[in-house]
Parts: sequence; structure tokens; C-alpha cells
Amino acid sequence: VTGAETDSCGACFARLRKLQDCLATEGHRCLLVSHLPNIRYLSGFTGSSALLLVRPDDALLVTDFRYEEQAAAEVGAMVEVSIARHGLLGRLVERLLDRPVEAVVAFECDRLTVRDRRELGERCAQVEWKPTAGIVERLRECKDAGELALIRRAARIADEALEQVLSVVREGAEERELAAELEYRLRRGGSDAVPFESIVAAGPRSALPHAHPSSRKICEGDLLLFDFGARVDGYCSDMTRTVCLGPAAPWQREIHEAVAAALEAGTRAVRAGVTAREVDAAARSCLEQSGWAQWFGHGTGHGIGLEVHESPRLFSRSDDLLAAGQVVTIEPGVYLPDRGGVRIEDDVLVNADGREVLTGFRRSLIEIP
Ligand code: GLY
Ligand code: MN
Ligand code: MN
Repeated sequence: VTGAETDSCGACFARLRKLQDCLATEGHRCLLVSHLPNIRYLSGFTGSSALLLVRPDDALLVTDFRYEEQAAAEVGAMVEVSIARHGLLGRLVERLLDRPVEAVVAFECDRLTVRDRRELGERCAQVEWKPTAGIVERLRECKDAGELALIRRAARIADEALEQVLSVVREGAEERELAAELEYRLRRGGSDAVPFESIVAAGPRSALPHAHPSSRKICEGDLLLFDFGARVDGYCSDMTRTVCLGPAAPWQREIHEAVAAALEAGTRAVRAGVTAREVDAAARSCLEQSGWAQWFGHGTGHGIGLEVHESPRLFSRSDDLLAAGQVVTIEPGVYLPDRGGVRIEDDVLVNADGREVLTGFRRSLIEIP
């Protein structure tokens, strides 16, 4: 990764300009951004407390004392930083009332709390507050070269961490212990704090799609599911592999084969211009043909980027459209209650003429000796 690729200020300048064009097209002058990943995307600010008011020619970042120096260092020339002493919203309102008041300000209605929305209305009644949703999230869908380099690195770190952990898996180890081992390897491999709680689920617990690692000890004959990711400069990877401790029973091999086939069908369906629901249908109909579809109860995947779950969403009724530069997961699973489950998940870059799978870890069933 070159310096230029990770120069967030340079990238942010272009992103803000693009957003300002978008706002103008949709008839908005200003947008109040309150969702932190959106703020990071547009300004480069990585702190945990901020509001960003995007105006026609510039932007105002309101944060607090803890982030004064950090904000100045992180944001580019197009973003003015203002430090709140008594609450972000209060400072924002002061700044809005400082100038000739903007008549209309759009806000992220799916991100702002009801309380904050009410407070804005009360303290800044001159402004018409206009609900919008998804404007910045749509811009974030297609990744630039710098973002892709970070996701690639996060995927590679995850591949390597799993390889290392599988070499220390042994009968009697607790799920929690393996999760700790995995997260240690991820961080040693260059990951920042992991993007979500790593899932390690053994035996019948592998049938819980979002199990929390427990004190259950793994034993011979268990399916063992790992779902985890790395994060590099904010960008996530998200992968799942399910292995077997010892030789797999015929039913375990059968569902693993069915899920691997659905993964392949879903992955092959990925290309720019198809709908997310077509990709979901490709994976799902593969499991229908093998007879396991009733045990696949969740969507086929989701976008990844600054968040582990972002648009586009790949499920049976999704209207989202795949476009070059998006990175989506494909993650079919079959979950048999009280017996066990298999999920296999890859991160896939959408190309104009197809796709590139970024997670490299092998997909065949591994039987740990
Ligand atoms: N670990 C959550 C997911 O795969 O979506
Ligand atoms: Mn996952
Ligand atoms: Mn996922």
C-alpha cells in the first residue's frame, strides 16, 4: 500500500465533493451526518464522538475536548473543526445560528436518536429538518483503490490467523480459548481491534449462526465453526470456515458439500449489474436442489467496508444492485438444531465482468487429525 493510497484526506476531499454534488441533485443544501462510519468516510476523523455538517462548499466537524488534536491532524482542509464544551448538539446549533440560518438541513433519520431530533427541532426551529436515509452509505458501497488495498490486507490477515489456529486446535480446548487464540493471532498479524466478536462454536453449538464462544470443550467428531475478521485502518474482513475434529461423519460431509456448492453458486452469480436478490437466489436454489434449503434461514451476504455489515444487502427480497468496486460476503449455511451446522463465508470483490474472491483460505472440509 503506497502512501497515496492511504492518504485519507485526499480521498475525503473527493468524497465530500461527490456528496455535495449528490445533495445538490437531490435538492438538499446541507446534510447533518451523525453516523460515525459515514463521518470517518467523509472527513477522515476516527474518534468516537462527532457530528459532521456538510455544507455546499465545505464541512463542519463538531467533536469534544478529547479529540481536539486528533481531529486537527486527521481532517483535511475542507473540514473546519469546532470543539464542543457542553454537548455536540448544542455546539452544532450555536454554529448553525451563527450564520444566516440554513433554511433546510437534511439529517440521517435512520441514525439520529428521537431525542436528538426533538432537541434540534426545539433549539433550531428556524431550520426545516428533512429526513433522509442512505445517501452516504450508497457512496460508500463502491471502494476505491486505497480502500480495496486495506480490505485485501484484512482478508489476508484472517487467512493467516486461521491457518495458525488450526495448527493448535486439540480435543478439550474450550471455544473461548480458541477465540482468544484467534484474536491474538489476528492482532499479531496486523489487525486493529477485531471488527466483531469472533464466533467459535463447536458440536451442536455450530448450529447457532451467531453463537458466543462458550466454555464448551471441543471433542472428537465435532464440527467446529470459526466466523471472524480482521480490521485494517478501519476496513474489515469477514470470513467463516467450518472444520471437523477427526474424521467427518457422512452427514457432516454431506452438509459441508452442500454449503460449499451453494457458496460456489452464489459466488459465480456475482457480477456488476445483477441484483443482490439474484445472487441470493443462486445460493439458495443450490441448497434447494440438494434438499437443505429449509435449514438456511438467513440472507446470503452483505457489503463490507468500514462496517462489517453495510449495503448492499444480499437477501431474497433485496432491491440492491451489484456494482464494480463493491465487496460483499457470500455466506450460505445449513444449521441442524441439536446436531450441528456448517457455514462457509468468503469476501468477494465485484468486477465489471465478474468477481475476485479476496479470502484465500481453502474451502474443502478439513478434518483435524
Ligand atoms: N459474523 C457476522 C457475519 O458473518 O455476518
Ligand atoms: Mn462472518
Ligand atoms: Mn458476514
